[in-house]
Amino acid sequence: MHHDDNLTAERPTFVTHLECAYTGEHYPADQVHNLSRAGKPLIVRYDLDGVRAALTKEALARRAPDLWRYRELLPVRRTADIVSLGEATTPLMRLPKLAAKAGGGKLLVKDEARLPTGSFKARGLVMAVSMAKAFGVRHMAMPTNGNAGAALAAYASRAGIKTTIFCPDDTPEINLSEIALQGADVYRVNGLIDDCGKLVGQGVGKVGWFDTSTLKEPYRIEGKKTMGLELAEQLGWQVPDVIFYPTGGGTGLIGMWKAFAELEAIGFIGAKRPRMVAVQAESCAPMVRAFEQGVEHATRWENSHTIASGIRVPQAVGDFLILRAVRESNGFAIAVSDDAITAALEEAAREEGLLLCPEGAATYAAYKQSLADGRIGRDEQAVLFNCATGLKYPLPPVERRLDLREQIDFAALA
Ligand SMILES: Cc1ncc(COP(=O)(O)O)c(C=O)c1O
Repeated sequence: MHHDDNLTAERPTFVTHLECAYTGEHYPADQVHNLSRAGKPLIVRYDLDGVRAALTKEALARRAPDLWRYRELLPVRRTADIVSLGEATTPLMRLPKLAAKAGGGKLLVKDEARLPTGSFKARGLVMAVSMAKAFGVRHMAMPTNGNAGAALAAYASRAGIKTTIFCPDDTPEINLSEIALQGADVYRVNGLIDDCGKLVGQGVGKVGWFDTSTLKEPYRIEGKKTMGLELAEQLGWQVPDVIFYPTGGGTGLIGMWKAFAELEAIGFIGAKRPRMVAVQAESCAPMVRAFEQGVEHATRWENSHTIASGIRVPQAVGDFLILRAVRESNGFAIAVSDDAITAALEEAAREEGLLLCPEGAATYAAYKQSLADGRIGRDEQAVLFNCATGLKYPLPPVERRLDLREQIDFAALA
């Protein structure tokens, strides 16, 4: 096995068509698409019987540990179009101290911080950019809360594709800087991500760039789906009891739900599904409100704000898909406060040495809350998603200083 076999060996691909997630209308594969005619996301479909015949667990186990090992379940046809920055399998780690403190059972975290550009957005954008390269797209545009823009900028620059990126004014500074450094034209906008999305949409008609927004582009889901494929493989082709997912646009939650269905169809897992829990911030919780109201679509959340910038998404085009997965899985949607997020972040860093991003910390806060109110049981195996490195966010300052001109009081340091 060579480290880059997955990037160089041609393997059969099985995409048959795309399908409107709302109406079921079919669209041809191998063409540039955005939303369906109904204005809803397009979902990529595969010949799963073909995949079943072509792929075994044993063959997979011999492949290099990166997301391209699942090639038969991915949309990129030719290896020449793969634009990789090294999308290594992310670790699934136990959190024994946090589990014990919360009074829970088996608690695991999938640490997505290890991916290129420091977040799980790499999974979706490596797929979107590779497909854009295959289609000869020359200019991609995107609204972003930061991490997705950074991933788009990195992969598109590597592929020689121009990018224009719009961020809300108060996007973390590091995100703006990394996006600019990685070759994109980036602009701050005095609005939220859906306002930025409108600018992208307007530019499609005026300057002809490609709209790479979450779920308006069909292949980001396919990349995010690999979280579910990896997770099941890491658990010995089992799924956990519960997944806590920090939900903005919801691509990862929808993608993992799709991954489990495909894995069952190819005979790799059984009918058991994890309960999918959509975690949001109290001051931006459109999915939680819609879940509690029992409705299919979520209305816009006005005056959204939270320190977990990645989940500050007032309105999501895939709202019905998030809600469908949550309900079908017998899961739920839950909101946590910024104070609870900060406390969870500090606790994980102090106890486990794990520097979560605020969105990841939100999942731990939600886990504790769900255990306390009995929505999950103490015997359930739960997986949290830490979606980005905590190093991308403002961290508390350190005030203690030593003056080398003075006598150091080591007793005070002991
Ligand atoms: C760190 C982080 N967590 C969570 C999310 C939400 O991801 P999704 O769009 O899949 O809901 C984002 C999106 O920006 C993010 O950057």
